[in-house]
Amino acid sequence: MMKKITILGSINMDVILEIVRLPKPGETMEMKSLTTAGGGKGANQAIAAVRSGADTAFIGKVGDDAYGEKMLGILKKNNIDTAEITIKKGGQTGQAYILLQESGQNSIIISGGTNLEITTEDVIKAQNSIKNADFLIAQFEVNLDRIAEAFTIAHENKVKTILNPAPAKNITNDLLKITDLITPNEIEAQMLTGIKIIDENTAAAAARILREKGVENVIITLGSQGAYYLTEQEEGLIPALRVNAIDTTAAGDTFIGALCSQLENKLTNIKEAINYATKASSITVQTLGAIPSIPTRKQINK
Ligand code: ATP
Ligand code: RIB
Repeated sequence: MMKKITILGSINMDVILEIVRLPKPGETMEMKSLTTAGGGKGANQAIAAVRSGADTAFIGKVGDDAYGEKMLGILKKNNIDTAEITIKKGGQTGQAYILLQESGQNSIIISGGTNLEITTEDVIKAQNSIKNADFLIAQFEVNLDRIAEAFTIAHENKVKTILNPAPAKNITNDLLKITDLITPNEIEAQMLTGIKIIDENTAAAAARILREKGVENVIITLGSQGAYYLTEQEEGLIPALRVNAIDTTAAGDTFIGALCSQLENKLTNIKEAINYATKASSITVQTLGAIPSIPTRKQINK
């Protein structure tokens, strides 16, 4: 059955600067190219979910500027329910400046803008969208208090909560206790557990600590090494596919959106869902940009 997913998250216009390498302090250098593409962790995850067939709704905020108009247009065109995206008069839509080096490494500088101006009233107004969903997903590019408020509504209504704790931030255990599935990458998992993740064993140790902190299901993504998962019933490493990665921006977002589109409500088929998400993100890393590189279900199955 088609999954109903609600995402509380960020909407950014990504400005991608392709450069040979990072400039040194005081150095001026030419970039190779300058492109813009839709992005933001929330928006990317929503696009990944909807392109994999999920009925997807978004809770967020943009400004009444050109980037806001463009991003709303992209989300609507992709059949995402935007009724709970508010437009702030005079607000500045989120922006991300992505420095993409020839080595494939990226460094990102974010201006949170209206993503950080989502209010408690906005969350309360959107409560039906949360209550009617199978899954509520959030990431850390919006205010953490709003995530706690939305997760509390979800938890009280038996809607499963999925937390992508990215970018890395310190959090209280209270939020973890109302999280059903957490999906950090290795850096975020280290921040949450204190364990430096270098391999399967260290990923397993970090996943156990997250379970002790109150999250029943854990997936730690490990970039080109794949993803480690731990649930009450099973655990293991699903290796990534070997591809020619040129831009890994939104690999994690694609993974999460695609994963949730396939998950059973009781999260009993995590392994199969990770296999699907692994294929999805292996496609994303082969193309430049976030939203333009996120595949459809048809492309993934092919
Ligand atoms: P980002 O912040 O860039 O969106 P992330 O750090 O949250 O990504 P990663 O752990 O880098 O997430 O990647 C998520 C998943 O994407 C991995 O588990 C893997 O399946 C896939 N992936 C990432 N990088 C590669 C790669 N170079 N080749 C193939 N698959 C990859
Ligand atoms: O996860 C990738 C996203 O992080 C980019 O699209 C950028 O907007 C930043 O928020």
